[in-house]
Amino acid sequence: MAASAFAPLRGKKGPRPLLLFPFLGLVSMALSTPPSAPGPAVAKLGCWFVEEAGGGGSVMPSALSQRRAFLLLPRPGTRLQEEAVEPQLPPEVEHGLAFQILDPSGTLWGDREPGASPLWLGEGSADTEDNVSCEINAYLPQEAHVPWAAGLVSEKGCPRALEPGKWFIATVQNPEAGYGVTSILSGEGPLPWKQEAATQRVTTTTAVLSVFTRTPHLQSRLGRDVLIDCGFSGPAAAFSVEWRHQHSGAGRVVLAYDGAARRVSVAEEGARLFLDPGSSNVSLHLQNVRVGHEGTYICTVYMPHLHAQQAMELRVVEPPTVTLRPSPLSVAPSAHAELACEVAGFYPQSVSVTWKRRSLGAPVDVLADTWESGHRQSPDGTFSFTSFTRLAAVRPEDHGASYGCHVAHAGLGDAGLRRAVKLHVAGSSGPSLEDAVGLFLIAFALFGFLQAIFRRVFGETTKTEKLE
Ligand SMILES: *[C@@H]1O[C@H](CO)[C@@H](O)[C@H](O)[C@H]1NC(C)=O
Repeated sequence: MAASAFAPLRGKKGPRPLLLFPFLGLVSMALSTPPSAPGPAVAKLGCWFVEEAGGGGSVMPSALSQRRAFLLLPRPGTRLQEEAVEPQLPPEVEHGLAFQILDPSGTLWGDREPGASPLWLGEGSADTEDNVSCEINAYLPQEAHVPWAAGLVSEKGCPRALEPGKWFIATVQNPEAGYGVTSILSGEGPLPWKQEAATQRVTTTTAVLSVFTRTPHLQSRLGRDVLIDCGFSGPAAAFSVEWRHQHSGAGRVVLAYDGAARRVSVAEEGARLFLDPGSSNVSLHLQNVRVGHEGTYICTVYMPHLHAQQAMELRVVEPPTVTLRPSPLSVAPSAHAELACEVAGFYPQSVSVTWKRRSLGAPVDVLADTWESGHRQSPDGTFSFTSFTRLAAVRPEDHGASYGCHVAHAGLGDAGLRRAVKLHVAGSSGPSLEDAVGLFLIAFALFGFLQAIFRRVFGETTKTEKLE
């Protein structure tokens, strides 16, 4: 979820439940195209400017205030004249809360070829705009205190501190479109945002460090390898990387790279950093996915005084194997029978089984007399259980009817999985194919037998006649 990306940034100060409010459906997006250039010249995006209302610092989490903001993202490498865009701004956006973001790296657009729209907008379809979430906050540059980033500020050529009061952090995400990006923005002074009698409505900023992912939502079967995508663009300086895993309230660092020491200082078994020298690809490679790997992964990139992060969800989905017993199914007339459908080795736990009876020329019947064993969980975390059904007293006309269990599970797709068995009513002479074949074979054998007898009796008779 979009909000989880922000939470750890402020994690040191305690939880911020209000941040879980998804800023969805509040986005308006417009692309304006000058007649000469192909593609949009600027992407516009409705956003929320969120800050702590009470100044923070107390034990109780302080309330958050949110005000409408607006992002203007000129095509990478270009800049808009502020006077030219002011008339296009929505009237409800306050002075200074319209942000023009200059982004030489093109990361905020998702590194698109010229003429294409930003990656977070999705491909073409207009309704994907509703899935874009956007938040912008004031940002305070500070040294990181995690051990793998502490050495960064003592690197050669690193400034002792960064000028406070002119920094912002913006996050734009669209899981449907498969893109999320967080950028630390440096404002050009004087900032209208801070001034009493601001005349300008637009705050112009430059993206300094952007962290992005192309896999905000991932799904994997058990035992596979996954690549959780994370990359960044920023100044050519030493950087550190941290990958955290969070699930059901528990969190831990699965991998950490110390850029000052140039070594990986934490690495869980099976976790590897996708780090080529000089590369800004800091994706996490997870081997042999297990149920315990499920959860949120947070990729944090540390630069001296700055850090930004992205959160991605990994879901483990393992489809069940389904076995129907007994098979074949043969029941004496007026006897009762039980069928068992074993659903095994699936994850997550949510699954449903329905029983149906189909016979020629009759509507499909849902069987109501069913019950289930409890779910068992095996050491690998997958679940298994058995669903049973009892057939009503079998009549000869039930011969040839098909009884099936239909299993619906996230890993089986929309169609689900069906296993069925045909009922054989013992002693029945119904029109089943097996019976016909059986009768034919019996007839054939009988014919051979009779023929042999005839040959013996009449063959000998013929000989006798000839002799006479
Ligand atoms: C990192 O490299 C992998 C493998 O080539 C690729 O699939 C992934 O998209 C790259 N990620 C970034 C952020 O460049």
